[in-house]
Amino acid sequence: MAFFRTKKQAGEAELDLSRLPKHIGIIMDGNGRWAKKRGLPRTAGHAAGAETFRTIAYHCRDLGIPYLTVYAFSTENWKRPAEEVSAIMDLLRKYLLEALEKMQKDGFRIRFLGDVTVLPEELRELCLETVSVGNQVDAKYQINVCLNYGGRDEIIRAAKAWARDVAEGRVQAEDLDEAAFSRYLDSRGVPDPDLIIRPSGELRLSNFLPWQSAYAEFYFTDVLWPDFDGKVLNEAIIDYQKRSRRFGGI
Ligand code: FPP
Repeated sequence: MAFFRTKKQAGEAELDLSRLPKHIGIIMDGNGRWAKKRGLPRTAGHAAGAETFRTIAYHCRDLGIPYLTVYAFSTENWKRPAEEVSAIMDLLRKYLLEALEKMQKDGFRIRFLGDVTVLPEELRELCLETVSVGNQVDAKYQINVCLNYGGRDEIIRAAKAWARDVAEGRVQAEDLDEAAFSRYLDSRGVPDPDLIIRPSGELRLSNFLPWQSAYAEFYFTDVLWPDFDGKVLNEAIIDYQKRSRRFGGI
């Protein structure tokens, strides 16, 4: 843990380990531009981005942040060239297989947000297996991978499931409140994100956790995702720790 307690340099703030966010969400953006800058194919950017994902997942775990949610593939990303989509699916397969092997030992579990039922069969099966193994792990850390995820799609699927329950008499429409609706979302059981980070200089949410981010703090940086590292994450957390969160109060 000494790494995180490095001596303050002049003008540099220190991470307060007693006030860490419990849940960080990250839009892993900038892989394509990172590759282009180096004259590489976009897929090389995704491969580098996947390595960064691993680094940051372990960094969050080592800090003691219980929930990390990453935007890996959106409902809109199917519009990309087939070769790029397939390269991202291959990377997901590779990293999920690695996670399956290591989850138990490394103390984390993986869950998915998004509609994984329409993924290529092998990947879909792997997702199911990953969730099932994760459910048997006594894990203190959870990584949520947003896969074929769109926030609006998540809300629509939740609304349909709720409407079915009303139609079939399992719940009463009058009883619906925010907590009850949250239980129909893919993120059920996961606390709302405290901090959402978007690298690569884009200042948008792009359909990432719109319901869950109602009171999240946002951090934007120009660093491209493959160049993102523990130091940048610490800077984001230090910035977050300077903010006063009032949740609508005073
Ligand atoms: C956005 O950058 C990134 C994606 C759409 C894919 C993210 C996927 C990975 C990092 C690899 C697999 C994930 C895991 C969890 C192992 P972009 O391509 O839109 O970048 P650009 O805006 O610079 O073009």
